[in-house]
Amino acid sequence: MGNFSVVKLFKIFPFLTDSGIPGCLPDEKDQSHPMWLYVASLIGLYYLFRWYREKQVVSNLEDKYVFITGCDSGFGNQLAKQLDLRGLRVLAACLTEKGAEQLRHQTSDRVKTVILDVTKTESITAAAQWVKECVGNKGLWGLVNNAGIVLPHICTEMMTKEILTKTLNVNLIGLIEVTLNMLPMIRQARGRIVNVCSILGRMAAFSTAYCSSKFGVEAFSDCLRLEMQYFGVKVCIIEPGYFKTNLTNEETFVENFKKSWNDCSVEIKESYGQEFFEKTLNFIKVIMKRCCRNLNLVTDCMEHALTCSYPRYRYSAGWDAQFLYIPMSYLPTRLLDYLLSKNLQKPAHAI
Ligand SMILES: NC(=O)c1ccc[n+]([C@@H]2O[C@H](COP(=O)([O-])OP(=O)(O)OC[C@H]3O[C@@H](n4cnc5c(N)ncnc54)[C@H](OP(=O)(O)O)[C@@H]3O)[C@@H](O)[C@H]2O)c1
Repeated sequence: MGNFSVVKLFKIFPFLTDSGIPGCLPDEKDQSHPMWLYVASLIGLYYLFRWYREKQVVSNLEDKYVFITGCDSGFGNQLAKQLDLRGLRVLAACLTEKGAEQLRHQTSDRVKTVILDVTKTESITAAAQWVKECVGNKGLWGLVNNAGIVLPHICTEMMTKEILTKTLNVNLIGLIEVTLNMLPMIRQARGRIVNVCSILGRMAAFSTAYCSSKFGVEAFSDCLRLEMQYFGVKVCIIEPGYFKTNLTNEETFVENFKKSWNDCSVEIKESYGQEFFEKTLNFIKVIMKRCCRNLNLVTDCMEHALTCSYPRYRYSAGWDAQFLYIPMSYLPTRLLDYLLSKNLQKPAHAI
């Protein structure tokens, strides 16, 4: 049987006879097989193996509980509905009662909601206690840390401490505190933690406070993944590109940009100049207009991370993330800075 398989393998991949395996001496003709054929076949086999592995689904999905933060709108809201249709038990945390009520109307009775503000410790502990009562001794299969904000500021010098702390409190500190409160239940179920990061957690540009928070999420997730492997808990990171949600609402961005410009000192305004403000604002408007409307590209990655037996550690969601921003993040710093600054307006007092 073993010999039969080897013979068959050489028939399918005749160039393997060049490999020097005893009993499979190459003939003159076979020696002409180029190297790229070896490499292409190996890559093909790798992708075939990965595709097969990633098709395997965990069993008893209908018994599994998933807790999602930030379900009022955007990715969180869509994921709650998607997992509900897939038959999982969704514990959806919303910031507002209005958001929770709307979600309950649009989903089955498998979806339960709770009010959660990730910046408030008492709100987190109350939500964790509620989750404990819901899941009982089954434990929590999935935690999706999705809640997030962006408070746009034109440049780092115009970022106030308030903008920085608010952003870090929701996107990073809140995410960490929620995770620590849920961890005992996740360990119990040998479950999954899915942290929603961003391509701006891989390549920092244009929004210092937001990027700092998302780089923090990457670091926290990497540390946690290493430690949690001993408990059978998997930690996955989702890195979306630009998508059309409330977070990327053009009017809110423009409003925040104008506020950030109006609030900064005369000295800073003179250094950067009115033209800098206007051109940067136009540049941001162009980016906002190009945001992808297909949120499924992100929620499908989240669903895969929660339901596949062998989830990926990192998911790049969206064409811009996969083919532009993630490849760019590997460029040498000098080259990346050059490419990025080609799109930026220079300040009035630039040397
Ligand atoms: N959209 C993008 O292009 C993009 C790209 C990369 C990464 N992301 C990330 O994806 C995640 C979801 O964002 P989204 O695009 O779906 O935007 P979204 O529609 O604004 O969703 C964010 C959710 O978080 C909630 N939230 C805000 N502050 C909160 C707090 N203190 N406690 C609990 N919940 C809070 C919001 O509630 P309200 O609606 O009531 O304010 C909202 O439901 C975020 O982590 C974001 O950073 C988004």
